[in-house]
Amino acid sequence: MKVLNFGSLNLDYTYEVEHIVREGETIAADQVQMNLGGKGFNQSMALARAGISVYHAGLVGEEGIDFYDVCQDSGIKTDYIKTVVGRCGHTVIQVDENGQNSIILFGGANRKNTKEYVDEVLANFTSGDVILLQNEISEVPYIIEQAFKKGMTIVFNPSPYDERIDECDLGKVSTLIVNETEGQQLTGMTTPSTIVAAMEASFPNAKIVLTLGEKGSIYHLGDDELYQPAFAVEAVDTTAAGDTFTGFFVAGLLKQYTVRDALIKASKAAAIAVTKPGAALSIPFMSEVELFEA
Ligand code: RIB
Repeated sequence: MKVLNFGSLNLDYTYEVEHIVREGETIAADQVQMNLGGKGFNQSMALARAGISVYHAGLVGEEGIDFYDVCQDSGIKTDYIKTVVGRCGHTVIQVDENGQNSIILFGGANRKNTKEYVDEVLANFTSGDVILLQNEISEVPYIIEQAFKKGMTIVFNPSPYDERIDECDLGKVSTLIVNETEGQQLTGMTTPSTIVAAMEASFPNAKIVLTLGEKGSIYHLGDDELYQPAFAVEAVDTTAAGDTFTGFFVAGLLKQYTVRDALIKASKAAAIAVTKPGAALSIPFMSEVELFEA
């Protein structure tokens, strides 16, 4: 069984600020750093650091050449990453004194996927292989259609949520991982229990994971419902905490851990990630997660 993550690759420009800039305001940043990120890349990094062999597919612009080396050094297979003409995806991230962030996302190369490229990548995968997707790239509805036709198992983190999700046939997804805001946008419900109930009504055969930040996470499938509290830590930077959770949770399922154990590992990994600055760089290795004491 092969694991493919078809996802974004962004250059993250992270600015440390006292508070997130308000309308009409100009503020000074104490620090700026440029790191490799993107929900797709971060989740591939989390899978790799959790011990899963993963192929990443996605497009970079000309200034995104570092992704090849960093992926290879991290054990992420780059066979299906391609460079296209134009700007790489990038973000402007503000991180405030409490570690909370706000992000402007420029899609760049991530928005240049074509059906031909999708077909070219998926030709290398078959029934029983697993595909992980987020919502920072173009052609997600087509990728879901084609992956489903092939009999691949589809895990979808519809993040960030926008109207393009309405074009996706979520009935073809095996595991849906959303945070509280995405859950509200997807269902129109406002509380964790009503979000989960609405998702179950719409997608009765899908494993549903609702992450609630420092309040923990909920897993639901049929009669099985598990609540996992988060591990309390001092937040330095919450960027990529959700990606870390997703990568480690999916890794747990692939390694056939119990759902409880997968949730615990994912929650510990996310807790460690928020204690460190940056996105992909903050993602721990499984060895660190195993040693983590709450
Ligand atoms: O989830 C965190 C990621 O979201 C960052 O790395 C940034 O690239 C944005 O896409």
